[in-house]
Amino acid sequence: MTDTASAAPHLSLAPPLRADAPWLAPLAGYSDLPFRLLCREHGAAACCTEMVSAKGLLYHSPGTRDLLASTPEDAPLVLQLFGADADIMRTVMPGLLEQGFCWFDLNMGCSVPKVVKTGCGSAMSRNMDNALSVARAMVEVAGEGRVGFKMRLGWQAGEETWREMALRLQDAGAGWITLHPRFARQGFGGEARWNALRELVAALSIPVIASGDLFTAADAVRCVRETGVATVMFARGAMNNPAVFDEYRALLAGGQPPPPDADRLKALIRRHLELALAHSGERTALLKMRTFVPRYVRHIPGVRALRNRLASCLDRDLLEELLETHLTAQAFAEDGGVDQTTTNPDGEARP
Ligand SMILES: Cc1cc2nc3c(=O)[nH]c(=O)nc-3n(C[C@H](O)[C@H](O)[C@H](O)COP(=O)(O)O)c2cc1C
Repeated sequence: MTDTASAAPHLSLAPPLRADAPWLAPLAGYSDLPFRLLCREHGAAACCTEMVSAKGLLYHSPGTRDLLASTPEDAPLVLQLFGADADIMRTVMPGLLEQGFCWFDLNMGCSVPKVVKTGCGSAMSRNMDNALSVARAMVEVAGEGRVGFKMRLGWQAGEETWREMALRLQDAGAGWITLHPRFARQGFGGEARWNALRELVAALSIPVIASGDLFTAADAVRCVRETGVATVMFARGAMNNPAVFDEYRALLAGGQPPPPDADRLKALIRRHLELALAHSGERTALLKMRTFVPRYVRHIPGVRALRNRLASCLDRDLLEELLETHLTAQAFAEDGGVDQTTTNPDGEARP
């Protein structure tokens, strides 16, 4: 194991694995630097990057490097890679260590056709020996306990690979296993099978992290208590409400999260914009806000008008005006079709 964390010392900080230390999940297109910083300000104890292609790093694909952006406040950070070629992992990882990255995750759960087609993501469950050789290559470079593996139950019902895969990954030196207990073929359909989490906790000696259907603080507290996992990873729950981390911590400690509040939500959106502007150009920042804000406001009555106007908003002043007009205490108080369900505004065509 090479220790070259001096390039960016914050990256050596170990991600905590305790129930009161919730993680932000890897989220392609979402868990970028500004969103991670926002989630950290709201209680995320560790964050994962978006998935980064090992091949993209090898071939210096445009955009891949940008996904590695980080700042000293962005810690502890886990860099998620995807790739199904052990030699490529062995080639690119020393460079990542030189940049200071110390903690890694391998994406073995993504079910997007583009990723699966190349044998990566959830397709790795169909070739366990190869998956293990990729895992060993990563552990060889990063060191034992420094790499986590994020997986699903298997490819499809009848192909339950999770138990054997997890045990073999543990033997290979995995630091933790994250399980999203659905099959790859399910996408986001059906329910996450939390029972499998409990079984995995019993089978392994390394920490298990829960992912799957953790939409609210209450879901996550229930999941930790029912399954005994080391901690939880918020994904869509955080995309809808970055304050879910603080809410979860409060609830776990026996407190009550505060009720939704217009001023607090406006402050959160303004802060997100500020962070996005600090780390990208104005146009990029506003385009990003167009993907996040509709999620943040989805439970507010009259949201359709706001979402329609946001769809074409590329102007900071207009965004501010829209927030002032639509996010009022009165709008929060109205009882007009509050959407507390788990539907996904954009269908979640991802893993
Ligand atoms: C938009 C989106 C992007 C995602 N990107 C990744 C990714 O890059 N890597 C990964 O391992 N999982 C990814 N996931 C899966 C999540 O990390 C998580 O496992 C999944 O959403 C289940 O948790 P949830 O039901 O609480 O949302 C993504 C999910 C969504 C919705």
